[in-house]
Amino acid sequence: MAQTIAVLDFGSQYTQVIVRRIRECEVYSKIYHYTTTAEELKKDGVIGIILSGGPSSVFAKSAPIPDRALFELGVPVLGICYGLQLMGKMLGGTVAKSKAREFGKGTLAIKKPGRLFAKLPRKLQVWNSHGDKVTEMPPGFISIGTTDNSPFAVIEDRKRNFYGIQFHPEVFHTERGVDVIRNYLVNVCQAAQDWTTKDYIKYSVKQIRKSVGKSRVLLGLSGGVDSSVTAALIHKAMGKQLTCVFVDNGLLRKGERESVESLYGKHFRIDLRVVDASRLFLRRLKGVDESEQKRKIIGRTFVEVFEKSLKSIIGGAEFLAQGTLYPDVIESGAIDGNPAALIKSHHNVGGLPDRMKLKVLEPLRELFKDEVRAVGSALGLPREVVWRQPFPGPGLGVRVLGEITKDRLEVLREADAILMEEMKNSDWYWKVWQSFCVFLPVKSVGVIGDERNYSWVIAVRVVESIDAMTADWIRLPYDLLQRISNRITNEVTAVSRVVLDISSKPPATIEWE
Ligand code: XMP
Repeated sequence: MAQTIAVLDFGSQYTQVIVRRIRECEVYSKIYHYTTTAEELKKDGVIGIILSGGPSSVFAKSAPIPDRALFELGVPVLGICYGLQLMGKMLGGTVAKSKAREFGKGTLAIKKPGRLFAKLPRKLQVWNSHGDKVTEMPPGFISIGTTDNSPFAVIEDRKRNFYGIQFHPEVFHTERGVDVIRNYLVNVCQAAQDWTTKDYIKYSVKQIRKSVGKSRVLLGLSGGVDSSVTAALIHKAMGKQLTCVFVDNGLLRKGERESVESLYGKHFRIDLRVVDASRLFLRRLKGVDESEQKRKIIGRTFVEVFEKSLKSIIGGAEFLAQGTLYPDVIESGAIDGNPAALIKSHHNVGGLPDRMKLKVLEPLRELFKDEVRAVGSALGLPREVVWRQPFPGPGLGVRVLGEITKDRLEVLREADAILMEEMKNSDWYWKVWQSFCVFLPVKSVGVIGDERNYSWVIAVRVVESIDAMTADWIRLPYDLLQRISNRITNEVTAVSRVVLDISSKPPATIEWE
């Protein structure tokens, strides 16, 4: 395993960002709850510690305080913002409450670059966000950088390899922030920069083999990025010991099932079982037009079908693989919660592994999404899979408004396939967060030849987003929109009108439901 840098989490919104920046420098890092003991860090072979920022004041009664013994491990420590103030307080300096919170950009002047600022300019624009500040350094420290507000913006104790910085090197607004982090990793912690995709795959394959042994692994394949990369990785490690189950719920897009069959079945030669449950899903959805109820039926039916199909192939299987990622793992262990919750998985399909007495195998649980994509590419998954747009679990079930019928699904599928083709041909597909069609259960008047007819309306939704929390509609070129609309109304006879959704999120959502 790669060398580890521990980031102790004191509740900063940037903790995950710090870990990502460290990994961008090809050094492995993970988040530890602030209560983690020095003993545990030592056991994990940690080669450097970062104390993250946090919303608390060191003067607050409930201020999170780490194990004092971590300063005696002989391992370098870097305190960021709250982490610096903690060092100030815990190592014998003085910290004072500032009258005003220092927030936003400031200029950092470096007096002595040392190892942390080696080969960096003497003046840097940095991002601050703090209330308290160090007013007297702990014994053994010297100040190596100042801002207008603080003579102790950067302090170091070279002998013990302790550093404190008041600004946030991990945020985008801090100039050369990643270089400061890299200097800490390479110059101070002497990290080997061995966290690369290639090395990770090697390590992970070994781990999977070790934990699985001779048993079989089952995996529910959805065709999404996470389950696809999980499949490719386990397949590399275990070959035929992996069986993938793909449920056709009748709510898939055009050609989706076929492309899964061709990629995993034919290309990778994975033991793939396709379960066609489309009739069952559609029967259960008959007459239902309320969206929450549709979701419930789809979710419940999926678990039922999946469980049944697993039972039929379970012989000798001991593991159920899941595409859990690192952010899912972190989210299940809140800062004030029980640190043990950090290792709990929250992706279990309705408690299924427990019910079926299967162990859970989560080979991506240490990775961020961008790392998962890199692993997927390295394993030979095509761009279409690795950079696939998000697609909701209930599939087209949330994109046919009103009652879901076979005919309506067919109309939506055809229209959506045209949109997808035009988005790919124009290269826009890769630049947007999501692009899809929605079936509206309204008929509007149209005219073909001399005849008036009443046909369906399709809405086109194309949005940009960073994390799906907010989104904005994309200003696609008019000629592209025209082509999309012309083709849908010409080629899908049951559609007479195409409308464009120009709502942002909030107040609208991405899906129409
Ligand atoms: P909304 O519509 O809430 O969607 O703005 C935010 C993001 O989540 C996706 N989405 C889902 N994904 N199961 C999923 O796996 C679902 O039930 C579901 N509903 C919405 C949506 O496509 C968007 O990316």
